[in-house]
Amino acid sequence: MDGKGHSREEAAKRAEELREQIRHHEHMYFVLDTPEISDAAFDKLMKELRKLEEEHPELITADSPTQRVGGKPAEGFQKVRHSRPMLSLDNAYTEEELRDWDRRVHELAGNLPVEYTGELKLDGLSLALHYEGTSDGGARLVRSLTRGDGQVGEDVTTSVRTIRSVPLKISPERLRKAGVPVEFEVRGETVMPQKAFEQMNQEREAEGLSPAVNPRNAAAGTLRTMDPGIVARRRLDVYAYFLLTGGDYLAIGQEATLDALTALGFRVNPHRGKVHTVAEMMKFVHAAEERRETLGYDIDGVVLKVDAQATRQRLGYTGRAPRWAIAYKFSAEQAVTQMVDIMITTGRTGKLTPTAMLKPVFVGGATISRATLHNADWIERMGLRIGDWVKVERGGDVIPKVAEIVEDAEHPRGKDRYVYPTHCLVCGQAAVREEGEADYRCVNADCPALLHGSIEHWGSRGVMNIEGLGEASVMQMLDRGLVRSVADLYSLTEEQLVSLERFGAKSARTLLAEIERSKHAGLARVLMGLGIRFVGERTAEAIAQDFGSMDAIMNASAEELERVEEVGPRISAAITDFFARPANRELIARLQAAGVKMTAEKKQRTTQLAGLTLVLTGTLPNLTREDAKARIEAAGGKVAGSVSKKTSYVVAGEEAGSKLDKARELNVPVLDEAGLLELLAKKAAE
Ligand code: IVH
Repeated sequence: MDGKGHSREEAAKRAEELREQIRHHEHMYFVLDTPEISDAAFDKLMKELRKLEEEHPELITADSPTQRVGGKPAEGFQKVRHSRPMLSLDNAYTEEELRDWDRRVHELAGNLPVEYTGELKLDGLSLALHYEGTSDGGARLVRSLTRGDGQVGEDVTTSVRTIRSVPLKISPERLRKAGVPVEFEVRGETVMPQKAFEQMNQEREAEGLSPAVNPRNAAAGTLRTMDPGIVARRRLDVYAYFLLTGGDYLAIGQEATLDALTALGFRVNPHRGKVHTVAEMMKFVHAAEERRETLGYDIDGVVLKVDAQATRQRLGYTGRAPRWAIAYKFSAEQAVTQMVDIMITTGRTGKLTPTAMLKPVFVGGATISRATLHNADWIERMGLRIGDWVKVERGGDVIPKVAEIVEDAEHPRGKDRYVYPTHCLVCGQAAVREEGEADYRCVNADCPALLHGSIEHWGSRGVMNIEGLGEASVMQMLDRGLVRSVADLYSLTEEQLVSLERFGAKSARTLLAEIERSKHAGLARVLMGLGIRFVGERTAEAIAQDFGSMDAIMNASAEELERVEEVGPRISAAITDFFARPANRELIARLQAAGVKMTAEKKQRTTQLAGLTLVLTGTLPNLTREDAKARIEAAGGKVAGSVSKKTSYVVAGEEAGSKLDKARELNVPVLDEAGLLELLAKKAAE
């Protein structure tokens, strides 16, 4: 008995009732914005539950609403690999670019349906929320990951648990109604509403802290505070837009996904709609632009997504983004200022990059004094002059860029036309500009800028990750002639390193250990580290998994490389060009001799069920029909609607009807759900 005379069973029952009620009211308030009871009445429910749990601590469950606040996060953030990479989106800025995209989509889609869902592009951070089944047939939030580098995210579950628009628990009824399996993943965007942002900055200023620049940075900072109390206080919202299971999208369209998410109890942005033509897309864009000021949270454009999952699958992905979606970005914030000079730098790929040096100007929330310039071609074509007035733009937090030259009575043109250098300003050798290229390139393999850039790139985070190999130390090593290529890093000695400025015996040993460790970074990292044009992380990983060794990649033809989905003609040409150069082959040989690992485990291609046709009938105990279909298709199998002699298997669940009779009649083997899963697993192992 407790103070109120509750027996243990009664207390358990009351606690569960209260949780149900609180969940319901949280949903009404935080997701639907239509509270049914007063704040005071809500607090009363919470208080009663808290009291009950204090008296009967054994009743506390991880997904109880009282557990949203409190609890200490683990030290640091755990890194967790995403079930499938969290990619980026390609951008369009003009109607013309949308038209090109729409045309490409139609070309690639062939006879498959093309309809689009328009959504707002929320200016926040993407999150992946993982749910798992509970004993009562519902599901609960078990993990929340940030996007991280797209492959591996940070576990911010403790913070996310405090966000009221994220359900901690989902009832079996909701799951059933939404047609979603018990184990699933929701992806969406976290935003900090403008009001919450202003309030936070007022508080920060009162405490003598510098204010956050924008709500997105504030949201990012908040998620990472490690103090769930703070996260709970600064209100964040999550808007859901994707639904996955087992690392694959549910086999339903985008519109249906948003409906299912709503049915599950997630907050789904109401400003969405189906569009079919570019004209309709633009209408959607303009409507969003008009609403922008009154939404209460930041958006920076709209996202258009091909609706049908089958069409999406056919369209696939480029290295960094799906071909089936595009972000239309609102035009960036602009300002006009004078360009006082142009600075040319040589990058690690040898590209001569122009930067405009500007009279400082306030734009997009910050003062800027430099901006990227298009390229040599644009500068020449526009006849750019030092002293010209230019319009600079800043979109989101990207580096500002020069958009155009301004010329009117107040802004007269500069005097002398800028003459673009045809030599590398670092090594002095002639730079080349190949047919069709917009920039000059230094092709002197001994140019210090290239060497410096390539070594720094090799050691950078996300590549070989060699801590301590920063700009200053690379510069010194080059000056002293200790290294001339990345292969030389592997024969550095402690004596050599301590002879450099700011290097003691300890830091020298640490760096050597880091270099040694980098030998095991793996094939994909090495491939990325070589700095081959267009070969970024995702592309390198896909090639490494497909080919398994550097030797195989080095000797592959362009066609062979293109069998990797991420690789098109432009990338394959860059790779074959790279390996056609003897100096590069020699570099590989030296790295290999130094013990740098150049193999990767080949990934089993998912074609286990290739050539097989399955028919689904009845209700399976765990998998939804869409889920089963998605898994079969992901494994290369086909799902047909009716049974014939050509059917390989019929998968039958409860209340299977005439299809099962037909299977028996035609002697087609029949599987239950377990049989199907076994087939998928067995085939994968073969
Ligand atoms: S879909 C395959 N939908 O924009 C990745 N993204 O620029 C597709 N974003 O990383 C993401 N609102 O963080 C999608 N309605 C929306 C979005 C949205 C904002 C963000 C997201 C993504 C970034 C890409």
